[in-house]
Amino acid sequence: MNTLFETERLLLRTMQADDLDAVYEIWGSPEVMKYCGGASTKSQIQRSIEFYRRLQNEKGYSVYTVLLKETSSIIGVCGFNPAENEHEVELLYHFNQHCWGKGYAAEAAAGCVAALRKNSPNVRKMIAAVDPANPASGKVLRKIGMTAAGMKWFEDTQQEELCYEMELA
Ligand SMILES: CC(C)(COP(=O)(O)OP(=O)(O)OC[C@H]1O[C@@H](n2cnc3c(N)ncnc32)[C@H](O)[C@@H]1OP(=O)(O)O)[C@@H](O)C(=O)NCCC(=O)NCCS
Repeated sequence: MNTLFETERLLLRTMQADDLDAVYEIWGSPEVMKYCGGASTKSQIQRSIEFYRRLQNEKGYSVYTVLLKETSSIIGVCGFNPAENEHEVELLYHFNQHCWGKGYAAEAAAGCVAALRKNSPNVRKMIAAVDPANPASGKVLRKIGMTAAGMKWFEDTQQEELCYEMELA
């Protein structure tokens, strides 16, 4: 089943197989993914799209494709990964570099949080981790009401990151 919701300027929907080329412009870009584990290959992205379709069906939340209403073009991805604790999710947002600085990330993230509150009442907390060298990302999190909870070491990125959180229940 395709999930669809909207904000003032954006449409968010379940990822689909033919999003591959547009999503590759985002997850395949070393510049966009500089602070987020690096760029992915097309076949990795294909598997991610399948994963996020399954996640939506299994959990009722996921990472979504973000489209600009005005042009119907895909400008980003935004949504949630499962966290270690089953009552928590991790917020993620990556946008095409051409679209930075227009407030789209904060608008999309706020829309995802509203949908999560409505559709997944069992999720009680949202978390996010930010590379301290990426101030724009921390700004997005503070704009949507998340608060900094301290630094934590991450094995995958091999560095300390600033953790943000927000209670949902
Ligand atoms: C981080 C990212 C999602 C922000 O997207 P965006 O649509 O430009 O975000 P917004 O416009 O909603 O807000 C960004 C804010 O950060 C500010 N900002 C941008 N670059 C900045 C910088 N270098 N230092 C400080 N603030 C900065 C902007 O001015 C804006 O604040 P404002 O609304 O008060 O002016 C986007 O840059 C991106 O996709 N980056 C690559 C992926 C990424 O880092 N994802 C997050 C963590 S993995």
